[in-house]
Amino acid sequence: MRALLTTGTPPAWTVTEIAPPAVAPDQVLVEVATAGLNRADLLMREGAYVPSSADWNVGPDRVVFEMAGRVRTVGDRVTGIVPGDCVMAQTGGACAELVAVDHRLLLPVPDLQDLVAAAGLPSALLTEYDALTGAARFRPGDRVLITGGAGGVGHIGVQLARALGAGTVIATTRSRAKAGLLRELGATRVIDTACEDIATALGPDAFDVCLDHLGGPVLAGLLGAAAPRARIVQIGRLAGAHVRLDLETLAARRIQLIGTTFRGREADELHALTARVREALPGLLRTHDVRPLVDSVLDLSEAERAGQLLDRPGLTGKVILRIGV
Ligand SMILES: NC(=O)c1ccc[n+]([C@@H]2O[C@H](COP(=O)([O-])OP(=O)(O)OC[C@H]3O[C@@H](n4cnc5c(N)ncnc54)[C@H](OP(=O)(O)O)[C@@H]3O)[C@@H](O)[C@H]2O)c1
Repeated sequence: MRALLTTGTPPAWTVTEIAPPAVAPDQVLVEVATAGLNRADLLMREGAYVPSSADWNVGPDRVVFEMAGRVRTVGDRVTGIVPGDCVMAQTGGACAELVAVDHRLLLPVPDLQDLVAAAGLPSALLTEYDALTGAARFRPGDRVLITGGAGGVGHIGVQLARALGAGTVIATTRSRAKAGLLRELGATRVIDTACEDIATALGPDAFDVCLDHLGGPVLAGLLGAAAPRARIVQIGRLAGAHVRLDLETLAARRIQLIGTTFRGREADELHALTARVREALPGLLRTHDVRPLVDSVLDLSEAERAGQLLDRPGLTGKVILRIGV
């Protein structure tokens, strides 16, 4: 089968023939239609990200960790999934014609999604659902702020917050052109951080929960807009991994700053999170669409170019590789 591998010096992505995977009793063999790219794929290629979660069950030279496709065969211990089912998953080495996935990591492709867009959903959905309902202990009515709201992960957070019943959904972008899009996705207020500072624009006591995809000085500026007992979940560090924080404000408002990553997560935790999302998804989609925006779809043979698109300033939503089915 064809699979995308990291090879050579300097490292590059190449489509390579490798043996198809064996299917263990708890696994399902999926014919992959599409795979979704993430920034971590680029970091991994440079050796700056080493996946260590239990959903990465192939070598570090394999590429990409989310996909959508059709079930070809199921292992002896798998029930409730049959050949032909459309599924999606966060799983290691997802950019290949066939992947063997533990059935407890699978999510059904929602009726409204096609297989192309679905490949861009699992990672962002698991990240944002976990951050909101787990780390931030979100309750309906909470005011939610999402930094980097138009990004591949953040735009799912905006839709989820709306679907879960947030009181207000505030999203940040540096691009005036993306403000309309963020409102369409469910943001009730958009802050253009190219023109205004978050704390000045919002004033104090503006959010109960923040999903922060940026870190750096953006994170420092969030404290001034946080409500007493606000929860800030630190998800990504695109604006910087080091920052000076006003700990007086953090203490005075009893703000909780919570870090998160999938690295190091055990199988039980990943299975439990996937089960919670699987259970919640039909209800969420009944009231609101939670759909990945697709920026570009490229053929597997154009993987290198697809990777370059992730750094394009105007990127809006997900970059998808088409593989088969
Ligand atoms: N912790 C976890 O479990 C987890 C899981 C998935 C992803 N992540 C991380 O979350 C972050 C976001 O991922 P993503 O896929 O959404 O990235 P993305 O698609 O590149 O989007 C992030 C958005 O942030 C804005 N941005 C980028 N660089 C910025 C900067 N220097 N200052 C201010 N704004 C900036 C851009 O929006 P505008 O152009 O609209 O301003 C961009 O669209 C990444 O760091 C990723 O590695 C973490």
